[in-house]
Amino acid sequence: MNFFNNILNIIGSGATAYILASRLRDPQTRPNTLAGFQLAESGAVPFLKTLGARAKTEGDIWLAEKLTIHAADEKRHGQIFAHGLKQLGKQVKSAAEMKQLKQSESKAKNSSPFMAKYYRGYDLESLKAENIDWLVFMASTYILELDASKDFARMSRALPAHEPRSRNLQQSILSVARDETRHAAYLYEAMERRLSSREIDQIVAEWRKRKIDAMFAMVGDTIKTGGNSRSLVKDSVPREMKQLTA
Ligand SMILES: [Fe+2]
Ligand SMILES: [Fe+2]
Repeated sequence: MNFFNNILNIIGSGATAYILASRLRDPQTRPNTLAGFQLAESGAVPFLKTLGARAKTEGDIWLAEKLTIHAADEKRHGQIFAHGLKQLGKQVKSAAEMKQLKQSESKAKNSSPFMAKYYRGYDLESLKAENIDWLVFMASTYILELDASKDFARMSRALPAHEPRSRNLQQSILSVARDETRHAAYLYEAMERRLSSREIDQIVAEWRKRKIDAMFAMVGDTIKTGGNSRSLVKDSVPREMKQLTA
């Protein structure tokens, strides 16, 4: 990473870490933040499973095994955030409710400014698990996992440690952070199995640059919209109530 990119990265990471940590600390925005993480983590599972199956078909058993573990980890991460939400008496809206919500929104608002900027130049078709270039997957995911591990560790510290519930959540988020570090490590190893260290440096620098641009796009969008995103959660109905109404 060159000096200028390094400075931008520090500023950008600081800004996103600040936004995420303050959203998690604020009881008003905590449910939606947890819901966002739940959806992002569980949303990665089918993609990783398909990639694992593809690696196996292509004869890369080492990678297939790593991807299978990775998919199981992300599933667990989704469950951790779902549990955190449940403790707040909330749950993620159903797929049907989300779909309805999406349809009522303008199309432009549908894609995340972060992802659009990060994967710019790649169309949706080429990013599917069946088609994605292995090196694009490895390098782009390596950067995201590496940064996620640091972001989750920072965010866990933003939760008030004196409340037992949020202390539990804090510990769970720390365990998520450790898993993300492990994911980054195997993805780096996966690149080492295919590339020279000079080539790795180049591809990692390219995705680092994309991440910086994407971070600023996200921060800009947050400032523009005042951080108001649509609600992803609804109140969860206690089991006893469900039995009464069923
Ligand atoms: Fe994760
Ligand atoms: Fe991960």
